[in-house]
Amino acid sequence: MLDNKLKAFPKDFLWGASTSAYQVEGANLSDGKGPSCQDVKELPAGTASLDVCADHYHRYKEDIKLMAEMGFKTYRFSIAWTRLIPNGTGEVNQAGIDHYNDVINTCLEYNIEPLVTMFHFDMPDALDKRGSWSNPESVDWFVNFAKVMFENFGDRVKYWLTINEQNMLTLVGPIIGTLRIPEGTTNVLKEVYQQNHHMLVAQAKAMVLCHEMLPNAKIGPAPNISYVYPATCKPEDNLAAQEYNAIRNWLYLDMAVYGKYNNLVWTYLEENDATPTFAEGDEEAMKNAHPDFIGFNYYSTATVQKAAADDELDPGADQQSARGEAGYYKGYANPNLKKTEFGWEIDPDGFLATMREMYSRYHLPMIVTENGLGAYDTLEDGRVHDNYRIAYLRAHIEQLHKAVTENIEMMGYCPWSAIDLVSTHEGIRKRYGFIYVDTTDEEVGTLDRYKKDSFYWYKKVIATNGEDL
Ligand code: BG6
Repeated sequence: MLDNKLKAFPKDFLWGASTSAYQVEGANLSDGKGPSCQDVKELPAGTASLDVCADHYHRYKEDIKLMAEMGFKTYRFSIAWTRLIPNGTGEVNQAGIDHYNDVINTCLEYNIEPLVTMFHFDMPDALDKRGSWSNPESVDWFVNFAKVMFENFGDRVKYWLTINEQNMLTLVGPIIGTLRIPEGTTNVLKEVYQQNHHMLVAQAKAMVLCHEMLPNAKIGPAPNISYVYPATCKPEDNLAAQEYNAIRNWLYLDMAVYGKYNNLVWTYLEENDATPTFAEGDEEAMKNAHPDFIGFNYYSTATVQKAAADDELDPGADQQSARGEAGYYKGYANPNLKKTEFGWEIDPDGFLATMREMYSRYHLPMIVTENGLGAYDTLEDGRVHDNYRIAYLRAHIEQLHKAVTENIEMMGYCPWSAIDLVSTHEGIRKRYGFIYVDTTDEEVGTLDRYKKDSFYWYKKVIATNGEDL
């Protein structure tokens, strides 16, 4: 489409940014909070422990005030399951309810719409010990947790996200520290997709419950979507790209929106003797659920070529790295794209391609729930000159603007992250925030907050509703 005929962003566009509880809060065992899988996992060498993080648990008022100064219309944060229900099921921890009530009320005082992620990589350890998502009861555990949230916060929270990056939990769970494979499992793929099935059913039931309990609320999924390119115009590479698109992206959204397994993924599971077992009522539950919008995290595209049946392939180092599966597809470093300091490809055009493809498949309003650049920032005289981050975000907002112009219903944009926090596996040295937090992987610092150059830049972007980039 033409570059010079842009339409304005909607007046009520939700500009904001995101965090997740276990990465930002700290205080991970305080005030009655139980441990989650993140608190008991062995941390990658040299990375900050999770007991302090950005100390957002104690400093959320100061942080939300800074978000308000940037002009945020929304703040996406997650609720730690173990702060609310320390053992995952059973007794509710009033201190946890009080804490999130206060976070929500603070947002509302500044006219910031809370956008709540229900589950962001932090399964209660007590439920891990009962089999985590491999246990069919996990569906009820999650629905009960959802009910506690809807009862306590539903009078003020209008926007809910179910499971953050379920596709990454399924594809690279060991990196994120979430996957539990029961002893004696012989077909790991089947086990992983059975767990994935339980998450899909849990999500479906939570969406139905949300609509029953909170008729005015809106709820949607939040997968990590990377549109997949074929490495060449060889027809076999194009077929491989379609297969990886289905396995990485569409499985999750086809199920959330249409209540159906994607046919390519189902075939792949059949071929590997890995189709999940349906419990009574699962099919109906998945058909009955309908999201009101789609949230999605976008960092980059992926590129693949056809893999031979005897190729030995990398299962993937993290969320965005090239992966492969023998006989299907293998990752390919796209020579047209630059990379971040942490090796993630940068592809703003691919962001537009992703939005186009998603909208043409699902025709639902969409909100970007993550997008951003992890970098080694340095604090000099109280400032962080993160022009590289501004360049990344500017290039992506330009494409977002084009999506709006193309009549794709975009509701909002929440980059990762509002404030510096601990990365999934690369410590706090990999920073994403608009607000610098004085702390390192080696030792806890003053935890003072500093506004990065990107803070002032994003403030201007929001003030002009995306016109002045
Ligand atoms: C997403 C997650 O995958 O990417 C976040 O939802 C994560 O939790 C973010 O922090 C950036 O990834 P990383 O690995 O750099 O922390």
